[in-house]
Amino acid sequence: MANVFIVGGAGQVGRRLAQRLAARGHVARALHRDPAQTAELEALGATPVAGDLAALDADALATRMAGSDAVVFSAGAGGKGGPERIDAIDGRGLELAVAAAQRAGIRRVLLVSAFPEAGRGRHVSDTFEHYMAVKKRADVHLAASGLDWAILRPGTLTDAPGTGRVRAGLAIPYGEVPRDDVAATLLELVERPAVNRVIIELTQGDTPVGEAVQALAR
Ligand SMILES: NC(=O)c1ccc[n+]([C@@H]2O[C@H](COP(=O)([O-])OP(=O)(O)OC[C@H]3O[C@@H](n4cnc5c(N)ncnc54)[C@H](OP(=O)(O)O)[C@@H]3O)[C@@H](O)[C@H]2O)c1
Repeated sequence: MANVFIVGGAGQVGRRLAQRLAARGHVARALHRDPAQTAELEALGATPVAGDLAALDADALATRMAGSDAVVFSAGAGGKGGPERIDAIDGRGLELAVAAAQRAGIRRVLLVSAFPEAGRGRHVSDTFEHYMAVKKRADVHLAASGLDWAILRPGTLTDAPGTGRVRAGLAIPYGEVPRDDVAATLLELVERPAVNRVIIELTQGDTPVGEAVQALAR
């Protein structure tokens, strides 16, 4: 049984992960900032933890995380706000979570990042370009942290029902992936600490999720 702290726990991926963790007997603690989400998180089997990533310092976040075996960072500014919010959440938010994990003595951080080819072949907005750059800097920060980590780079997220089958690898062609299957992949990563210090690209595919993740263990 693992105790997992999800930053972005009420997000679309975060809440799917929380539900899967709880269903498998793990403790899922979900950081969220809207009090209206508390009841929904509880209904999923998660333990809501109130906190705004943009307002907490590392000590305050470490106090909330204390006792966790792993941190999953799935927060993001999404479509809301401009570059400043992307900097604050996808960028400094990840740095804050890493610092808090270090202070709380939590060894393992799993990061939901972005697929490098997202947007390639079309004209993208300056904001999207900025988002991709910040996501990459967050990857760099975590990879240099000295912690145990895995960075998951899903292709374009969809709300299609999960299939339980994915393509996961160090370098794979770009594609879409249901959020359900991203959550399923994160659950498998939580349960497989031997998948460590690896950057994983993820799309929909044909391999059962557990098998796909196990193949990345070393
Ligand atoms: N969309 C794509 O195609 C795609 C592709 C690859 C990777 N990704 C990445 O995948 C991740 C998860 O995606 P998703 O669909 O689950 O996104 P989401 O539903 O927007 O979830 C992001 C979560 O971050 C939370 N958050 C934002 N600001 C916060 C703050 N100040 N304090 C605490 N929490 C805060 C949001 O809470 P609020 O509701 O309170 O704002 C939300 O719950 C994101 O990081 C995204 O960049 C997306």
